[in-house]
Amino acid sequence: MQFDTPATTNPIDNLKVVGQPIPRIDGQLKTTGRAMYAYEWHDPKVPYAYGYPVGAAIAKGRIKSMDVSAAKKAPGVLAVVTALEVGKLKKGKYNTANLFGGQEIQHYHQAIAVVVAETFEQARAAAALINVDYAEDKGSFDLKVAMETAVKPETGEPDSAVGDFDGAFKAAPVVLDQSYTTPDQSHSMMEPHASIAVWDGDKLTLWTSSQMIDWWRSDLATTLDIDKEKIHLMSPFIGGGFGGKLFLRADALLAAFGAKAAKRPVKVALPRPFVVNNTTHRPATIQRIRIGAERDGKITAIAHESWSGDLPGGGPETAVMQTRLLYGGENRMTAMRLATLDLPEGNAMRAPGEAPGLMALEIAIDEIAEKVGIDPIQFRIVNDTQVDPEKPERRFSHRDLVGCLKLGAARFGWTGRGRPGSKREGDWLIGTGVAAAFRNNLVLPSGARVRLDSEGVVTVETDMTDIGTGSYTIIAQTAAEMMGVTIDKVGVHLGDSRFPVSAGSGGQFGANSATSGVYAACVKLREGIAQKLGFNSEDVVFENGTVRFGNRSIALAEAAGPDGLVGEDTMKWGDLTKTHQQSTFGAHFVEVGVDAATGETRIRRMLAVCAAGRILNPVTARSQVIGAMTMGAGAALSEELAIDTRRGFFVNHDLAGYEVPVHADIPHQEVIFMDETDPMSSPMKAKGVGELGLCGVAAAIANAIYNATGVRVRHYPITLDKLIGGLPDIA
Ligand code: MOS
Repeated sequence: MQFDTPATTNPIDNLKVVGQPIPRIDGQLKTTGRAMYAYEWHDPKVPYAYGYPVGAAIAKGRIKSMDVSAAKKAPGVLAVVTALEVGKLKKGKYNTANLFGGQEIQHYHQAIAVVVAETFEQARAAAALINVDYAEDKGSFDLKVAMETAVKPETGEPDSAVGDFDGAFKAAPVVLDQSYTTPDQSHSMMEPHASIAVWDGDKLTLWTSSQMIDWWRSDLATTLDIDKEKIHLMSPFIGGGFGGKLFLRADALLAAFGAKAAKRPVKVALPRPFVVNNTTHRPATIQRIRIGAERDGKITAIAHESWSGDLPGGGPETAVMQTRLLYGGENRMTAMRLATLDLPEGNAMRAPGEAPGLMALEIAIDEIAEKVGIDPIQFRIVNDTQVDPEKPERRFSHRDLVGCLKLGAARFGWTGRGRPGSKREGDWLIGTGVAAAFRNNLVLPSGARVRLDSEGVVTVETDMTDIGTGSYTIIAQTAAEMMGVTIDKVGVHLGDSRFPVSAGSGGQFGANSATSGVYAACVKLREGIAQKLGFNSEDVVFENGTVRFGNRSIALAEAAGPDGLVGEDTMKWGDLTKTHQQSTFGAHFVEVGVDAATGETRIRRMLAVCAAGRILNPVTARSQVIGAMTMGAGAALSEELAIDTRRGFFVNHDLAGYEVPVHADIPHQEVIFMDETDPMSSPMKAKGVGELGLCGVAAAIANAIYNATGVRVRHYPITLDKLIGGLPDIA
């Protein structure tokens, strides 16, 4: 099915199942430990062996030689496979760095060997016996230094300009020119990357933890140089990804090579430090923002420049993208510059671009509003736009930033907000802050197969993944709505490369794209049923487990017949994303207390108001948003990968040194979804929400801290050392 005209009324609009607050259908499996994650697949008849990775101890250079003799003789060792033996492998389409193979070292903890043994402990002990001789090259590890030689990236649209920014900025009566920094961040998902590889002749079965089954399968085929059809990939349950599992990773390759060498099924999980230094991270940014405004608050000039770094061949952190779309203003420019860094690969982490971009932009907006002398909510309302400010002929498909700000202000209790540093409760300085949320709504082609059996049970198969988001549940809801059955009559099977290729989980495109694919497959199945019964499919009604045409009504089980029926299709997308700008909007409100003596910040309450099209399931969507808000609290207050700039690696490579908050750190979180639909987005009229929930959160916290203390911190994370010197004297 091709979606190329705005959605009209369709069976989803019945909202008997879709839109209902249904608890996740895989919840019981998860809470009782029966959901099998990658490393847990276990068949008692299979003699699994265990692989332990060896990572490069330098950041840049070459392996001169490796001595594996002691490791090979160690107890229980079945095989040792080194990068030198494997030789340089072809690189997958989605990988920047070499994951394994060859002499060249591109970053610290790049995989250079896997040791396979009877037990995990034996493999780990033997891995420590490998001696490596390196030729080390000087690397570039410091963005502040490397930005001097940063270049315009070759791909994407690094620059944009409209009108005369310089002239308008000079002429503006109120101006802001500030720099902001965001640090390298780690996805820190709970489940580390893990794979089990089983070879049967030249056929490979791989249980793994992947957000994108088909991307992984294609890249694995390229890297192993085997036919894609020979690889069966499964990833039915995933303990978080946040972008860190979008692209094929070393655990899959090491398991595949280890299993081949040991002639045994092999399990490989990346130890936590490898998750940080072997896989990807969100790159640090240095951002400069200039805004010129009239005295009434209207922006006349806005510029956003961002510098970030990556390995050669990598790309920029696209931190300026939201600034092209979020506020009006006739004269504008954005630019991204890319420095070469020999740190581990920088890549997508939840809301890549917008998340760090809004960390800067939404402080800048708070600052310019204060300079103009108007309330920051009013400032954002004054500068709202219903058209793409760079291409005014393009309208937003649906945009309700103003509604989010107004409703949020009323619900949060925005009026009565004091001047910076003016509110005190005992030792605590109290402040509130606001920021806009913005994230583009992307769509990807998505396929599904839907079966109806002789019991009237509907079964969905798609290679879509559920990374903890609720995919199983919203897909079941979609199929139930389309086929007119209750949700307990629907089974959902995900994360298997034998199923139709879906959008996968990423970029907050998963929910809308994948349910649209299921919608398309259900339309096919409905047509098949109608045709079989000799009904005109246009006028057929599916409800209460029956298919009805005029006054004839037949149970679905009967309609299916003994052999059942199948519908399969892929949702493809026409030009509506080109003719209209599709984005999601929101507003974040935060109240903090800052200890007047120590500078310790405590978040007291948070509110998010989201305008993200139809909400397919308010329970799972809310969980996405409160999780994202918590992640934003980490970005604001604690998360930072500390770089050893001499050796070129992230030092705090575990969950003890890299601090992420949990829900218990925030006593009160509230989420409100605007009651809206976006017919331009899909037949579901839904959009993404999982990344929107993160966008702007950190800035709202920074702005609340400023309101509490009068200290403006522009360099994340806002740790107490950055506050303490500026706190008002305590009496
Ligand atoms: Mo998301 S960073 O595309 O998983």
